[in-house]
Amino acid sequence: MTLKGLIPGRQQPTHLADKHWQFGTVVNNVKKVDPLLHYSCFTLGFDRTDIIQYVCDAMKNVKPEIAESIVHAEDLKLNHASYDLSNKLFEMSGGYRSFFALSGSDANEGAIKLSSAYHYVKKNYHKKQVISFVGSYHGSTFLNNNLGDLLMDNPMYTMDRYHSATRLSRNFEIEQVDWTKVMSIIVEPCSYGGDMTPNSNDFWKKLKFVQEKFDVLLIVDDIFMGGGKTGDYFGWKHLPIQPDICTMGKAITAGYFPLSMTLYNEKIHQTLPTNFDWDHGYTYNFSLPGINSALKYLQILEQENIFASFDAIQDKASDCFLAAGYEIINSFGCHYMIKRDKSQILYVIPLNANAEYFNVLKQDLK
Ligand SMILES: Cc1ncc(COP(=O)(O)O)c(C=O)c1O
Repeated sequence: MTLKGLIPGRQQPTHLADKHWQFGTVVNNVKKVDPLLHYSCFTLGFDRTDIIQYVCDAMKNVKPEIAESIVHAEDLKLNHASYDLSNKLFEMSGGYRSFFALSGSDANEGAIKLSSAYHYVKKNYHKKQVISFVGSYHGSTFLNNNLGDLLMDNPMYTMDRYHSATRLSRNFEIEQVDWTKVMSIIVEPCSYGGDMTPNSNDFWKKLKFVQEKFDVLLIVDDIFMGGGKTGDYFGWKHLPIQPDICTMGKAITAGYFPLSMTLYNEKIHQTLPTNFDWDHGYTYNFSLPGINSALKYLQILEQENIFASFDAIQDKASDCFLAAGYEIINSFGCHYMIKRDKSQILYVIPLNANAEYFNVLKQDLK
């Protein structure tokens, strides 16, 4: 079948989707696991129709409210679910406030802009620079393309690079940078590009040092690793740092509906005036299905005690990879970078992986 009407080249899909089962596809009547669970989103697999049902029911009788208006005289309103989710996140994170959007890229743009707004309010007008690291990915928009260097070959085409974004090596020396000019650093808990080498303790120590000494806001891009895949909803929870801002997306709704979030700490909240003008577009637009999906997913994580089997599932996954002759190059939570001969694959193990998942995985790895 010829598929017409799509952009040509690398991103053009060349196959129609296969049938699916709980954890992957069915090709010629043979089950296969989806190694990445749809780019690290569907942490509970593809059959949680209870999440879809919950969201559809929740959406039936509401008029979505976006709570942002260009006509400042209007009363601003927001649906109950948005308050429920931000309150829940506040409790779970130990005091981070949140705003919602639809894509991870938007959440990161919001995070960088919020760091700039923080310094603007503090009259730190010289703090304009944003630091990121070689070997990261932060999203598909202009600002994010200037921060991350992986997954895309040449996204700038004819556009000039953004002069206030600087990418450092992870072995950077503190003296290399004039930190008095830096507003924020953006970093993933663990970059999955390359071979997924975790950041060293020394690296995190340096970030903590400049965060504290030079009032540089630390933004953790938790979009790929967050949502439960480290045994905690927040992918950075086991790291030796405390972000000022963190961004999440993908798995935060178990993948079924799009949502992203930017969470920020009390220090930022205290700095922003109560009449603060947040010039970041209509961030609450269309986020209600995702918000309800995140609420249902959080309920499932709790009620089904999903994290109780987290360690056992990781042990089984490791055994499977090793028994099939793969080397585990690196792992971070339930993300595994494995290698046999020359082929390297990234696997994301579902949080509810069962005996059938592991049987199919064994077959796939043969
Ligand atoms: C670490 C990281 N940051 C940001 C993004 C961008 O998210 P989105 O594609 O939803 O804009 C991604 C997406 O793959 C990601 O993995």
